[in-house]
Amino acid sequence: MLIKRKDRNIILPSEITDREVYAQRRDFIRQTGRFALAAAASLAAPGLIAATLPQPAPRAKIPGVKPGRFSSTTTPNTYQDITSYCNFYEFGTGKRDPERHAHTLKTRPWQVRVEGEVEKPGAYDLEDILKPHALEERIYRFRCVEAWSMVVPWVGFPLADLIKRFQPTSKAKYVEFTTLYDPEQMPGQRRAILDWPYTEGLRMDEAMNPLTLMVVGLYGEVLPNQNGAPLRLIVPWKYGFKSIKSIAKIRFTEQRPVSSWERSGPREYGFYANVNPTVDHPRWSQARERRLGAGFFAPKDKTKMFNGYAEQVAHLYTGMDLRKNF
Ligand code: MTE
Repeated sequence: MLIKRKDRNIILPSEITDREVYAQRRDFIRQTGRFALAAAASLAAPGLIAATLPQPAPRAKIPGVKPGRFSSTTTPNTYQDITSYCNFYEFGTGKRDPERHAHTLKTRPWQVRVEGEVEKPGAYDLEDILKPHALEERIYRFRCVEAWSMVVPWVGFPLADLIKRFQPTSKAKYVEFTTLYDPEQMPGQRRAILDWPYTEGLRMDEAMNPLTLMVVGLYGEVLPNQNGAPLRLIVPWKYGFKSIKSIAKIRFTEQRPVSSWERSGPREYGFYANVNPTVDHPRWSQARERRLGAGFFAPKDKTKMFNGYAEQVAHLYTGMDLRKNF
């Protein structure tokens, strides 16, 4: 991956970072190998840096994670369930493929390009993205469009806090996310299963909702590659495909973006993708779900409107026909 210098109008962490939070972020970044990048960068020629960068140690603990708001009281699925039954088509279409193959993804160095309708566009190093944010654990129900669900203790921070730092203009009505495109690291991108790179989008008010999370870990540890390291989205009231992994670009737009799944099958995958037991997928019912790990013969659970988060998000869709806007 290219190592680019940051744009002139980058936000300096010192402009916005509270001391205590900054110290916590520094621990996390150090633990996950990011400080080694800074050291290497000050010594080595740019071309040498990538080769000398350490990946974060697998399952490294993230220090200073506080319990967050909106957590489900349901017991989470096991670490094993969450990390071995995945959807990440860049590493294969089988549920077990990402766990087996995602080790080829290099998550350091990592940059996120910020583009479009913002006052502070630029190429941000992952450390600049993370530094000012206090991390919290949120236990969220996660419902996949394929009618299975699980409960996951994510570690992250509100997307709204990140978006505010980029200062969207009044024209920013939507935000689009794009996964890294690199068929060398993501061999699934060599096959035309989707229109790569994977993209997803949210309306601005959905993105700014306090439930919407930028995720960097689970079970108090750094996010495994198969779950979308180093940075992924979690939108708990929407079907799982909205929760895009390994984000390398965030673009603010006036027009509604078209996501990868919507482009590949517009009858099956809508832009909103709100969990809705009354609107079926064209090929199967969405009224019930199978909780992962509950066993094949366990009775299915009734799916809740907005995946149980109606109190927090139903107002976003007042007056909209959710059959048309599925
Ligand atoms: N993001 C990318 N880049 N590629 C993918 O294939 N799959 C989506 C979503 N994000 C996907 C992605 C789908 S369909 C689901 S259900 C969730 O990731 C799965 O997240 P998990 O594997 O962490 O459970």
